[in-house]
Amino acid sequence: MPIASTTGHGSAPGKVILLGEHAVVYGRTAVAVALDRHVRVNIVSAVSCDEAKTAPRRDCGEGSTWESAPFPVTLFAPIESEPSPELQRLRKALACAAGYLRLDPSPLALSVDTDLPMAVGLGSSAALSVALVRALAAVAAFELDDTSVCNAALEVEKLFHGYPSGIDNTVATFGGMLAFKRGQPHRQLNAACALPLVVAVGRLPRQTQAGVLNLRGRWQREPDRYEGWFDEIDWLAGTAEGAIANGHLGKLGGLMNSNHRLLQQLGVSTPELDSMVDLARAHGALGAKLTGGGGGGAVICLCPDSRDELIRAFAAAGWNAFTTDLHPALRGEHAGNLPAPSRDYRDLRA
Ligand code: MEV
Repeated sequence: MPIASTTGHGSAPGKVILLGEHAVVYGRTAVAVALDRHVRVNIVSAVSCDEAKTAPRRDCGEGSTWESAPFPVTLFAPIESEPSPELQRLRKALACAAGYLRLDPSPLALSVDTDLPMAVGLGSSAALSVALVRALAAVAAFELDDTSVCNAALEVEKLFHGYPSGIDNTVATFGGMLAFKRGQPHRQLNAACALPLVVAVGRLPRQTQAGVLNLRGRWQREPDRYEGWFDEIDWLAGTAEGAIANGHLGKLGGLMNSNHRLLQQLGVSTPELDSMVDLARAHGALGAKLTGGGGGGAVICLCPDSRDELIRAFAAAGWNAFTTDLHPALRGEHAGNLPAPSRDYRDLRA
């Protein structure tokens, strides 16, 4: 298929899973919300753009990887650059998405910008996948509906995660707040109010692929025990839908706490994540839990009254944190036009 345009842009938001990660891989329901932070991809058709061939490579420095990149980060992948590991992954992702859309990736160069913390369970790889597909579609002048974008992005996600349930690329594509169950159409949820969260980022990156694979091994050895825990998580997620619809934040917080306990039992939390959750509860959070793959990554804390105090407590203990108000109205690409978040966690670094 020929390339129709010289440039294409795509963006997609990160996400938090409020309840139900890991169990969602086993057919249970999870509830997730788009964040007001994004990954943006620009694609240049280098056939007609000499700049793309000669532009200096801007990346995150020697020895760093895409996964560990600080943010905001701009990766520029001109055709003739030396392939570092993160650029190799980006190129693989580009080739995969282009292949899915039957496009020739060879004349294309891309850059990526993001204000989303990477590799901490906030959906950065899915946001990258969706933004990439959208940018490619723009370059090729394809009219892709959101379902096609979501399906293409799932193929790219498999490069990053091996066995994704599909929840991350679904939130990155459609935005808003949704309930997701594998093999069924997702349901957009309404909330009585915005959910006042603090997101705190641990020192270790999340380990989604390893976490999912190791959990699978434990589940195969003791299926009844793990199925029981997945059912409990499913119940928590279903009950949370009602709490969100009615604005019962205290109840929602309790459900998040119970979900974290079950994630500990599944073996996907870490001592660091547990300490962060304890700190959040001691500083007024109604509920706190790890979010995403675990094994590292981030925690979310539902905290209507004392967010500044909690942010300061995280900073004093050496953890970066930021506030966000999750709202069902934050939709996919359009959320990119919203004002910047009120507090930027880079400001809180020592
Ligand atoms: C990762 O954000 C969520 C997991 O449930 C994996 C998946 O659903 O693909 C851990």
